[in-house]
Amino acid sequence: MPATKANLMKQLNSNFTRLKPVGIREFDAKASAVPGIVKLTLGEPDFNVPDAMKQAAIDSITNNDSHYAPGVGTLALRKAIAHFLADRYQLDYDPNGEIAVTVGATQGIYAALSALINPGDEVLVATPTFPLYMAIITILGGKAVEIDTSDSDFVLTPDKLKATINNHPQAKALILNYPSNPTGVTYSRQQIADLATAVKDTNLVVIADEIYSELIYDGHHTSIAEFLPGQTLVLNGASKSHAMTGYRIGFIAGPKELMGPVSALSGMMITSATDSAMAAATTAFGSEAGRQATLEMKQAYQERRDFLVHALHQLGFQLATPNGAFYVFAHIPASAGNDDVAFATALAEQGRVAVIPGSYFGAGGQGYLRLSYATSMENIKLAVERIATFLKED
Ligand SMILES: Cc1ncc(COP(=O)(O)O)c(C=O)c1O
Repeated sequence: MPATKANLMKQLNSNFTRLKPVGIREFDAKASAVPGIVKLTLGEPDFNVPDAMKQAAIDSITNNDSHYAPGVGTLALRKAIAHFLADRYQLDYDPNGEIAVTVGATQGIYAALSALINPGDEVLVATPTFPLYMAIITILGGKAVEIDTSDSDFVLTPDKLKATINNHPQAKALILNYPSNPTGVTYSRQQIADLATAVKDTNLVVIADEIYSELIYDGHHTSIAEFLPGQTLVLNGASKSHAMTGYRIGFIAGPKELMGPVSALSGMMITSATDSAMAAATTAFGSEAGRQATLEMKQAYQERRDFLVHALHQLGFQLATPNGAFYVFAHIPASAGNDDVAFATALAEQGRVAVIPGSYFGAGGQGYLRLSYATSMENIKLAVERIATFLKED
């Protein structure tokens, strides 16, 4: 095995070396070493890919669908995405020029931010949030301006947003993720309309990460693109809605002129997404079977959420209102202090339940834990029993 040549590490991109370790996967890996641990850590559906999507991928392979697709994805998938966005969220995008298929929402976020950020540029991010945004902004040489939402039930209010815009008038973009990872909080139609009003007269590009849009339990998801079509890049994908995390299919939709450079950059990064995965996603977004599969999974998530929320309340946790995604963001009981990393570490080692410390998600997360209920009810029940025992013994 080769040893890296001396001094070579100095050649690394200095933005990369500035990156703070994200921690989620490391924490999960460390906790996984505890024998018999129950994990409520990762944001990954525990369901298998539904049969209709699997069959579409198999057919694609059998039919030798094995050549480079267009950089923005197959036309069939872009049409299915346009149908999905119109049917579910009343959004109107042309499959030719206004939609690009990406390798997961992850690469979509990278492409969108790459198209916007020059070194030193600011991006507004409502926190606590998915840490990848900060990492990508840092790698691109930009600066994340965190807007702590913890004192407004993890909802970004128009006043808070306006105040931040006033303090950072040159910011290029606003990243909004709802339903939210890690809080499970989402926004009503009115709240989205009010945020849109606060942004409308600015030149901010809204990067709306709506990857959990299909997983809302009470009410309905409203895309901010409905109010700000000319300045929003909507990100979504099949990972969460269709349990297709490993297929790596996401997409970006936005106004044509802006999508030109975003799509060009995305194409440079990936050439194109994988044919068989795109075939599966075409069924996911374009068929009734795809819609039904999501509804069935959503029903199961809702039962788990209701159970977990009730149980955590009874154990003395305070929760953000978790109306979407598959996360509960719970403040550790007052009697247990405010150190989420210490609490989560002890809970893993002594209580044999793994959850993610809230401070890993940026400003406002301290004192909280993220519990993912993308796992079986059996695991959730066992976790609750163990948390109860841990709190008694602590
Ligand atoms: C808010 C958010 N955006 C994007 C992603 C990544 O999605 P994908 O698997 O499509 O890359 C995740 C995954 O956890 C997420 O929580």
